[in-house]
Amino acid sequence: MGQRFADFRSDTVTTPTARMLEAMATARVGDAVLGDDPTVDALEKRFAELFGHEAALFTPSGTMSNQCAVAAHIEPGEEVIVESDAHIFMYEGGGLSRVGGAHVRTIAGEAGMLPVDEVRAAVRPPSVHMPRTALICLEQTHLFSGGSILPMSYLESLRALSLQLGIPVHIDGARIFNALAETGIDAADYGAMCDSMSVSLCKGLSCPVGSLLIGSGAFIERAKRVRKWLGGGMRQAGYLAICGLIALDEVLPLLSDDNARCRKLGGAILGLPGLQIAQPNIDTNILFVEITHPGLDAPMVEAALSDHGVLALAIGDRLLRFVTHRLVSDPDIDRAAQALQEIVTATPRG
Ligand SMILES: Cc1ncc(COP(=O)(O)O)c(C=O)c1O
Repeated sequence: MGQRFADFRSDTVTTPTARMLEAMATARVGDAVLGDDPTVDALEKRFAELFGHEAALFTPSGTMSNQCAVAAHIEPGEEVIVESDAHIFMYEGGGLSRVGGAHVRTIAGEAGMLPVDEVRAAVRPPSVHMPRTALICLEQTHLFSGGSILPMSYLESLRALSLQLGIPVHIDGARIFNALAETGIDAADYGAMCDSMSVSLCKGLSCPVGSLLIGSGAFIERAKRVRKWLGGGMRQAGYLAICGLIALDEVLPLLSDDNARCRKLGGAILGLPGLQIAQPNIDTNILFVEITHPGLDAPMVEAALSDHGVLALAIGDRLLRFVTHRLVSDPDIDRAAQALQEIVTATPRG
């Protein structure tokens, strides 16, 4: 007991700041489902303005925001083009088909980027035999390729195609704030690249709960109906919404440090035998490490790290995921690097 773990499993392990906890006690609240919670209204307004859209909807989770978005964009049976490793497709319990009734078309991406020519070719011609292509989904940053930032030049070319074909774009922006911190690009410029975006409060921003879905006024009205089906209307939600308002001022400025720490960890791992960085760049706060050591696999390294007070996440047999966030410090990076070094050098190579 008593050992503090350096927890790299996810940025979702972050807990609210002292300022958030204090503000929760005195937040002005009402019944948000009846539409009279001033703090929820303020949060939704702030996020809509930040990303340059008309409206926003506070939901309990990124998953709910994504699923509300799809169900509000499409009719059941219509086709959604999505990147093969996208969270919305891989890790949301099949919600695309269950909630939105989507016919899903996956395309393999490169660092999260769906090749624009392949998207163009995948769009169905008008035909009674085929589903109508109704939505394109992207993820910014792209989790599975190691928190890659989809560059603005790429987003512009996909947006041009979407406008030309009249097919809306939804961006799962769960970690868009890590991209903002890195590129310095205005949030509204990212907002202009899509018809809707979900953003998470409970990852790097450290709020206990919550996500916002952002889009046009009419779109948000449709999404609100879906949130209702899903039971996602929350009553005195201002107690949670206040954390999101504080996070923009207090935690957002810290995200560039999280990104830098992730690169520092990557740099320390680079020279270690039996470990390989499994992504071309470390753009933000996510790092996948491949275990190439013949005497180790990912679950073994995960367990050994835990004995050193370091938590990481094994993904399958060979990949280990590290995510940096507000509660991971510089000494934690050193501790993880040191632990990895001890583990790989202490294990015989086959
Ligand atoms: C890229 C991405 N999108 C969406 C989600 C879903 O967020 P939530 O856990 O709040 O449902 C996650 C969660 O980790 C995520 O990583």
